Amino acid sequence: MKIVKSVAEMKNLSLTYHKCGQTIGFVPTMGALHEGHVSLLKIARQNSDITLMSIFVNPTQFGPQEDFEKYPRVFEQDCAKALDAGCDVLFAPTVSQMYPDGFSTYVSVEGITSKLCGISRPNHFRGVTTVLLKFFNIVEPQIAVFGQKDAQQVLVIKRMVRDLNCPIKILTGPIIREPDGFAISSRNKYLTEKERSEVPQIFEGLKKIMEVYENGEKKAGVLKEILLNKYHSLKHIKMEYADIVDFENLKPLEILNTPSLVAVACRTTESKTRLIDNIVLGGVL
Ligand code: PAJ
Repeated sequence: MKIVKSVAEMKNLSLTYHKCGQTIGFVPTMGALHEGHVSLLKIARQNSDITLMSIFVNPTQFGPQEDFEKYPRVFEQDCAKALDAGCDVLFAPTVSQMYPDGFSTYVSVEGITSKLCGISRPNHFRGVTTVLLKFFNIVEPQIAVFGQKDAQQVLVIKRMVRDLNCPIKILTGPIIREPDGFAISSRNKYLTEKERSEVPQIFEGLKKIMEVYENGEKKAGVLKEILLNKYHSLKHIKMEYADIVDFENLKPLEILNTPSLVAVACRTTESKTRLIDNIVLGGVL
């Protein structure tokens, strides 16, 4: 596995692959790798000749009060995991390589970025799309793979790729969960013991909604009420939002007659960890 730390070197390497006719499958991450990231590498491998993963804790997608400083950085462990997962190239640039002095250009998808997570994280998606467009220009992958765990992020990226004619196919991988149903995340490391024992209830709530929906209930209001009631009794988890929206455009729904996204975000009460999860009803994922 090649480890590349400079943007210039990465550009040269990509050019070499292109000249040889080898396709690049790209998995962008912020590191602290886990089974969710590994599952995306597998998808990249199945769909391209070279699998390339980036590790970059991107400062522009963190708010001023958020966890940029304390975000887990475990590069040596990540290298071992990436190698084990069959990664060919690990690209880990520094902040000054990605954002040199005088950096002042941002890419912003409008509309869908101001809903759900965009309400409490106003500049988050602008940071995500900016860094990804930079990565796409540096790496020039044919394919990029993202996790359904961050459902809104996937929609925002697809919208940017469509609107700006990026020559890249976006693939999505399913949410990888712990055996107790809890969606794996790099932030799980922050959780206290009490919080960790309660967080599987987040997915339990979503499963309940799935069951009620499959038994014929299509009214968003009724489904949302059931979900909120279930979450209301939790001691260590405070809901930020629990919404049922159109899967394509995140518009609120009254009746679930199109593929629908049930998305939740919450914060734990002790470690103040922000967690998200979702399910899709009436769709493919
Ligand atoms: P990060 O949180 O490291 O996630 C990298 C990728 O892994 C994202 O596509 C995310 O959706 C996916 N992922 C995380 N947990 C997962 C799980 N349990 N199952 C399946 N996939 C999972 O998302 C980011 O980084 C950043 O915003 C990034 C896209 C790299 C831009 O900086």
